[in-house]
Amino acid sequence: MDKIQIVGGTPLEGKIHIKGAKNACLPLMVAGLLTEEPLIFKNVPHLADIETMKELLHSLGAFAEQKDDVLTIQSNNITSLTAPYDIVSKMRASFLVLGPLLARFGKAKVSLPGGCAIGTRPVDLHLMALEQLGAKITIEGGYIHAEVDGRLKGSAFTFPKQTVGGTQNVMMAAVLTEGTTVLNNIALEPECTDLANCLVAMGAKISGIGTPQLVIEGVDRLHGAEHTVIGDRIEAATYAMAAGITRGHLDITGCPLEYLAAVVRALTEAGVEITEIPNGFSAEARHAVIIGTDVMTEVYPGFPTDAQAQFMALMSTAYGASLITETIFENRFMHVPELVRMGANITIHGTSSAIVRGTTHLSGADVMATDLRGSVAMVLAALAAKGTTTISRVYHLDRGYDELEKKLSSCGANIKRISEA
Ligand code: UD1
Repeated sequence: MDKIQIVGGTPLEGKIHIKGAKNACLPLMVAGLLTEEPLIFKNVPHLADIETMKELLHSLGAFAEQKDDVLTIQSNNITSLTAPYDIVSKMRASFLVLGPLLARFGKAKVSLPGGCAIGTRPVDLHLMALEQLGAKITIEGGYIHAEVDGRLKGSAFTFPKQTVGGTQNVMMAAVLTEGTTVLNNIALEPECTDLANCLVAMGAKISGIGTPQLVIEGVDRLHGAEHTVIGDRIEAATYAMAAGITRGHLDITGCPLEYLAAVVRALTEAGVEITEIPNGFSAEARHAVIIGTDVMTEVYPGFPTDAQAQFMALMSTAYGASLITETIFENRFMHVPELVRMGANITIHGTSSAIVRGTTHLSGADVMATDLRGSVAMVLAALAAKGTTTISRVYHLDRGYDELEKKLSSCGANIKRISEA
């Protein structure tokens, strides 16, 4: 398995372009199941998760090919309505095929995803909402068996808790229902809005996009469309924190600042100067004194859980202490013991809070992480550390960061991949 080796201590300087958001692309690809006509996506990153979604779509009989940053999906010859365990357990976003398959074909069999490194991550709300639209759902042999007599029927559903995947799954089902569906307390993450906009381009009738209530008037069929994927706000936040932790300066393009308000607030309070530039923003920390800053993860537009580990790495080099509270997932401090191995001073309180006391220097070490964002937090810490860090389990990074080493080395980082058989 590959490893990444970083010799830290160089302030990053330069320009980094952000690609389309992984978490927008995955549901958009699934939306390709809703029509027999082609869907063409632009600004698609090259990532292992995109490959896994292609593999799943192929297994259902769909066409899915990526050429450079253009990805085409066509589902005019669906041969299977089953999403198998080996793919769903590898990538949870696979569960999103449930709603579209059920809405278009009246039937689907989708493996339950099971637990994951960052928490239990149930899918009960996806199922509850689909049942409200008329689906009959049973669980057998670890699989959800969903069926509907005729078509799904429009109805009202209020999510008891905001869920990104649940909103996407149910939105994709509701666009092909008979009658009108009203969804309340939906997730407002930009990736949900991007999906809604693409569905509208495909002929769906959705109003209230960008608000907590969607009104979806079902249509009989959808058609093909072309859609440009929004920039990856988490990738952008990660590089802004890389500028901060190395006390460098990066111009980050491809992701609008409007998606990053909570991250910008936290970075500004910590002493990283964020300035809007054409098509993006700059993160300046060359002469900064980074100071301990508290954050709490929340649903959008709050501080994203997917940027918590990276911010913690930054805070471990700050003056003073910061309190980091994770409210979305119950097991999202797996990176803490690894940061501590690099000299960070972090104490976990209960399951949801960590106090980070900044240290004057981190030192290189052999580390690993058990999830995507935890792994990239190790990269950030390594960029700032004295000496050499070797990060194993690089496959996590390949799931979500397009050309990570190339982007960082073009800005002065001493980073290389070591391939092992
Ligand atoms: C998505 C993102 C993930 C991000 C997360 C939160 C993708 C592919 N993944 O994950 O990167 O960390 O949003 O921003 O876009 N919940 C339930 N029941 C459900 C569904 C969710 O209790 O049926 C709970 C979860 O356990 C969690 C919270 O709701 O505590 C939010 O989860 P959710 O928004 O659904 O996250 P994902 O869509 O899985």
